Amino acid sequence: MSNVVITGAQWGDEGKGKIVDLLTEEADYIVRYQGGHNAGHTVVIGDTEFILHLIPSGVLRKGKRCVIGNGVVIDPHALLAEIDGLKERGIGIKDNLFISSRAHIIMPYHCAIEKESEKLKGSLRIGTTGRGIGPTYADKMARVGIRVADLIDREVFREKLQVNLQEMNYFLERLYGVKGFVLDEVYDEYTGYAERLRGFAADTALLLNQAIKEGKNILFEGAQGTHLDVDHGTYPYVTSSNATAGGACTGTGVGPTKIDKVLGVVKAYTTRVGSGPFPTELQDKTGEFLRDKGREYGATTGRPRRCGWFDALTTSYAAKVNGFTEMAVTKLDVLDDLDEIKICVGYKYRGKRYDEMPSELKVLEGCEPVYESMAGWKASTAGLSEYGALPQKAQRYLARIEELIGVEIGIISTGFRRDETIILKKIF
Ligand code: IMP
Repeated sequence: MSNVVITGAQWGDEGKGKIVDLLTEEADYIVRYQGGHNAGHTVVIGDTEFILHLIPSGVLRKGKRCVIGNGVVIDPHALLAEIDGLKERGIGIKDNLFISSRAHIIMPYHCAIEKESEKLKGSLRIGTTGRGIGPTYADKMARVGIRVADLIDREVFREKLQVNLQEMNYFLERLYGVKGFVLDEVYDEYTGYAERLRGFAADTALLLNQAIKEGKNILFEGAQGTHLDVDHGTYPYVTSSNATAGGACTGTGVGPTKIDKVLGVVKAYTTRVGSGPFPTELQDKTGEFLRDKGREYGATTGRPRRCGWFDALTTSYAAKVNGFTEMAVTKLDVLDDLDEIKICVGYKYRGKRYDEMPSELKVLEGCEPVYESMAGWKASTAGLSEYGALPQKAQRYLARIEELIGVEIGIISTGFRRDETIILKKIF
């Protein structure tokens, strides 16, 4: 029995979907613990690509139980569309999905408020995915959120909705000058969703604790990445949840003593979507090359991702705040054709050298990366599944990453497919 948390070490899009899918083979339960349909987890099975937003990637394997934990925020329309889309492709969702009755619901006013607020912020906008994530978590913390349990109780739902709409419509109409929402319209639409979701609602904390008691393997599937975490990330250019490993406990009701491993997923270079500091960003031909070769376009919004070199400072910070026990390095093959590959090993800002990632945004925004340079291997690693088959220079690159971060590499991904993987260490 083993319980493993998978988290992203960078700004999301590290390739967690593939790693989760791979490890799901040995897991009994696959659990999402934070975020919402802002996530886009790409999984390729054979020649078929699936992009999952809310439903744990485990759903693609038969006989697995998938859980959406209390830390997740749920847009019922998006969730039902995802369920229907999967059904159309032959993936049945019935008694294999459990949704926490404590998870919060994304309401249409959350998306409207976010859209207007981003517009008002101008150049200070976060560059969100526009899914209403931030305002939903804000309501959760303000203790006015609507939970799954509230949504499926018509009386409670109407009462809460009425109070919330009074406030939200005031902001929308008076502050932003746009149309508010009509109580009956929202009520009718959302009680319709509630009827379809009712059968999935459960006390998932009890369910998971019982599964642990029975010796089942649980995989906690993080969304986004460490530097998008609301506490540990590049605040305020972050998402509104705890994407780091600690979120797996608060977001599911499984205690920290029950977690055995934390696998950090690290892309062989770095990408970021949306605004915010990115010290190793390349706004040149190499950046464009990484974007094209790595197909670096947002799985949720289609936005081009900003690309740059591997940053040992941000990644080793991630290793500490998550407590990585192993790393999975993804997309190594994207670097195959480069003459030179750089690794950032420090920052310089106003004459001072930084060997650890600083918390001040202005340092991250204004610093010069200090690079170590390595000769590229200039040979194909695409699809390799044996470590020994990797070119010496690629092995050296990986060894240097391991040395700088101080965490062992357990998995290396050399392509999108399941078999394009080098397994060095058993995770379960
Ligand atoms: P939000 O999560 O929609 O509030 O967006 C906040 C920030 O997180 C923005 O910079 C988004 O681009 C980024 N973000 C949210 N979800 C993801 C993801 O799954 N991958 C990469 N970036 C994300």
